[in-house]
Amino acid sequence: RLRSCPPLRRSLSSVTENDILHFSKILDPPSIISTLSPIHSSLEDLHPFNNDWMRKYSGRATTVLKPRTTQQVSEILKWCHEREIPVVPQGGNTGLVGGSIPLNDEVVISMANMNNVRSFDPVSGILVAEAGCILQSLTDYVAPHNHIMPLDLGAKGSCQIGGNVSTNAGGLRLLRYGSLHGSVLGVEVVLPDGTILDQLTTLRKDNTGYDLKQLFIGSEGTLGIITGVSILTPPAPQASNNVILALPHFDNVRPLYQTVKGQLSEILSAFEFIDRTAYDLAVKHGQGRALNEEDVEGAECFVLVETSGGRREHDEEKLNDLLETLLSADRPLINTGVLAQNPAQFSSLWALREGVTEAVSKEGKAYKYDISVPLSTFKEVVDITRNHLQSQGLLHEDAVSHVLGYGHVGDGNLHLNVIAKAYTQEIQDALEPFIYELVASHRGSISAEHGVGSMKTHALHYSKDKISLELMKKIKEMFDPKGIMNPGKVIA
Ligand code: FAD
Ligand code: MLT
Ligand code: ZN
Repeated sequence: RLRSCPPLRRSLSSVTENDILHFSKILDPPSIISTLSPIHSSLEDLHPFNNDWMRKYSGRATTVLKPRTTQQVSEILKWCHEREIPVVPQGGNTGLVGGSIPLNDEVVISMANMNNVRSFDPVSGILVAEAGCILQSLTDYVAPHNHIMPLDLGAKGSCQIGGNVSTNAGGLRLLRYGSLHGSVLGVEVVLPDGTILDQLTTLRKDNTGYDLKQLFIGSEGTLGIITGVSILTPPAPQASNNVILALPHFDNVRPLYQTVKGQLSEILSAFEFIDRTAYDLAVKHGQGRALNEEDVEGAECFVLVETSGGRREHDEEKLNDLLETLLSADRPLINTGVLAQNPAQFSSLWALREGVTEAVSKEGKAYKYDISVPLSTFKEVVDITRNHLQSQGLLHEDAVSHVLGYGHVGDGNLHLNVIAKAYTQEIQDALEPFIYELVASHRGSISAEHGVGSMKTHALHYSKDKISLELMKKIKEMFDPKGIMNPGKVIA
């Protein structure tokens, strides 16, 4: 709504009734949603595909296709390639950077119907699943085999594994299990001209030259459509526990992280940060149960520590020892710690952190900056942004109401959020390029885990040098010379 749509390449075509007739030969009628003849769906039917989770981005697609097989994806792309019709792959549509929303009237290819598990080997833990499988369903699928997915995020109930791989999603388990560049073993991809690239290996080791699958991890639908994923799932930990620590000063986060890593070592599985504003909003919007008044009094920020290990008593002992060390120090790093006593409390403490995204969106319109900066600067970056908005006369209830920070400390990933009454050009202009310049001054990344989408194409140069950008353009040209795959995303 804010963004003026960049023009698509002139050679690209709009989908016509003749195209719909062709798609009807590939797909069964319920798998085509289109306002065009002979389908005649309503705009209402297209609404969920043309609008994003934040209601920040909107498209004008007339047609959504929902293939059930890789072969169908291939036939659709072959046709679109010949006709030069641009397409937007769409997973769960939970992305936060506008990547899954058409900029104009591109055809949306929804992966929702490709939701079968192809195989699971309980010995190796290797899962092969179709791209449209929802992350939570895969978690549920491997759970009886005592395995977990190597990633977890607040959007798990809607996001799809294909979307996760396409965005190289980070999330809450990256500290323990690393990024998808490590745990994805293979992908099956349909290239823009319909060619099926089968890299769906279940081998852990393969050094036969260039590792092509890595190009698709994080490529946000600009190089092809991922139809299948082979992924290594770790064994489920025998015991998990968590604690929320209330800190009097942000400056304590760094030494706390050092102490926690030192004492918990191999059982530490998450170290997540929320500032006071984020905590208050989570509580206000019913995400998890509020801590006692005396526990939060005087707290400038909070850290959620999770442990996952092999033996409950051993882990609890380590966690209790940690709390004792922290609280009995001459100058304690924390005011207090609230330890989960049962599974319900465990979930409730997690909800205070995971629920911030939901709380922010309930509070107002969110400008989200997902950045990598040194941990020592997390608070400074939030404060500088707030002061900047104040100096621009925008920090009041009719414009910006909150500036807050939360994120993945272990990964150096801060989510700087600005909540406003409405998305306006004035606020946008105040925030950009101001924040990108701030990030660049710390040699940080303007996108730590959410991707580039359509939000940051113009800002890539703040984090990537000229040579890298030229190479990226060449790779795009090589895979997609006609530019039909998710145009205007990642590379403008
Ligand atoms: P979509 O939003 O549908 O698409 C995202 C991008 O991938 C688009 O560019 C799209 O074209 C492309 N794409 C989707 N599927 C395919 C495919 N099969 N083949 C090719 N391209 C495809 N992100 C994090 O990294 N960490 C978090 O902790 C996190 N938490 C979140 C919490 C909430 C409440 C919400 C709403 C979002 C969160 N996100 C997080 C962002 C988002 O959930 C992730 O980016 C997720 O991986 C997107 O998956 P999706 O299936 O919804 O993809
Ligand atoms: C998170 O860590 O909560 C997610 O990345 C979503 C967000 O940034 O709000
Ligand atoms: Zn995150």
